[in-house]
Amino acid sequence: MANVVKLVKNFKEKPMKKNFGVKEAVFPMPVLMVATYGENNKVDVMNAAWGMICDYGKIALFLDDKHKTTKNMLSSKAFTVSIADKAHIDVADFFGIASGNKMMDKFERTGYHAKKSEFVNAPVIEEFPIVMECELAEEINTPNMYSIVGKIVNVAAEESVLDEKGNVDPTKINALLFDTFQHGYYTIGEKVGMAWNVGKDLMKK
Ligand SMILES: Cc1cc2nc3c(=O)[nH]c(=O)nc-3n(C[C@H](O)[C@H](O)[C@H](O)COP(=O)(O)O)c2cc1C
Repeated sequence: MANVVKLVKNFKEKPMKKNFGVKEAVFPMPVLMVATYGENNKVDVMNAAWGMICDYGKIALFLDDKHKTTKNMLSSKAFTVSIADKAHIDVADFFGIASGNKMMDKFERTGYHAKKSEFVNAPVIEEFPIVMECELAEEINTPNMYSIVGKIVNVAAEESVLDEKGNVDPTKINALLFDTFQHGYYTIGEKVGMAWNVGKDLMKK
């Protein structure tokens, strides 16, 4: 009898799933600010949600090859990637709407500040709290993806996002997250556990 009750309970606990067909159903996606120099060291910044660490010290960005950013990366051989934070949400979104191909003062109209990276030939946007400074490592063009891979040569973070030991505290970044379902921006919620730790009891079975 107890087994029957358990079976019925288990059956009830499994909700039906609605089918959505093809969707990029990964949540959360990052909100990355990709900054480059164009002709005459003109600064451009774009918003990229389709980007991820692809190897130790490497980042892959999945970009349209028509973007001003992409053209700039290929000619300057470098770029920086900042994490967009809540305090700068309006400009972060603007960087994803306007194109440096058409808007000649795209960066200047934000009033934001850029300085040349100490490590690579690309601008660091001063308003965003944490930045990866990258050299162009590879351009990948296959029938299934177009990607620019960067070799991260330095990461810099402002003091406001560090903990008392000097490490980056993710809860202090207020990083934006992008949702592919409804195109919303979110910030992170509470910390709910430690990786390589909360699952380890199952290793003992
Ligand atoms: C939330 C958001 C995420 C985006 N993610 C990407 C992306 O991952 N790859 C891409 O090619 N374009 C992406 N875009 C579009 C570019 O940011 C946009 O086309 C921009 O105008 C390109 O600027 P640029 O031509 O000055 O480089 C995104 C836009 C938004 C608003």
